[in-house]
Amino acid sequence: MGFILKGQRLTELWNFTRRRNVQLLDSGEMVLNSKVTLLIRRSQSNEPNVVEVERGENLRQVLLRESLTPYQGNKKIFNCRGMGICGTCKVLVFENGEWWDKRSCQIQCFKNLEIQLK
Ligand code: FES
Repeated sequence: MGFILKGQRLTELWNFTRRRNVQLLDSGEMVLNSKVTLLIRRSQSNEPNVVEVERGENLRQVLLRESLTPYQGNKKIFNCRGMGICGTCKVLVFENGEWWDKRSCQIQCFKNLEIQLK
C-alpha cells in the first residue's frame, strides 16, 4: 500500500536522499547510487572540475588519475604512496559547513564531496 508525502515530510525525504546519495524510484523504493560526484577546486583555476567516480574510490587515486595531483613541488616524488604516513597529500574537504584539512589517501568517496586542492 502506497502513501503520499506532502510539505515538510516530502522536503525532509528529499534532503535525506540528497545527503545519503540515494535515489527514490517511482515505485517508492530507495536505491543507493553507485556513483558519487566530486567538485574539485584548484587554487590556480577559477573553473572547478566535476568528476563522477565509483562509490568508495580512494580520493588520492582519483586525483592522480584525473591529473589533479594533491602534492606540491617535490612531494610529487617524495611521498609515502598512499600509506597515510607522510601527510603530503592533504587537501581541504568541505563538510558540515566547514573546510577540513585531510589526507586524500585516507578518504574513501562514499558521498558527494567538495574539495579544494592546495
Ligand atoms: S600519501 Fe602520504 S599520507 Fe597520503
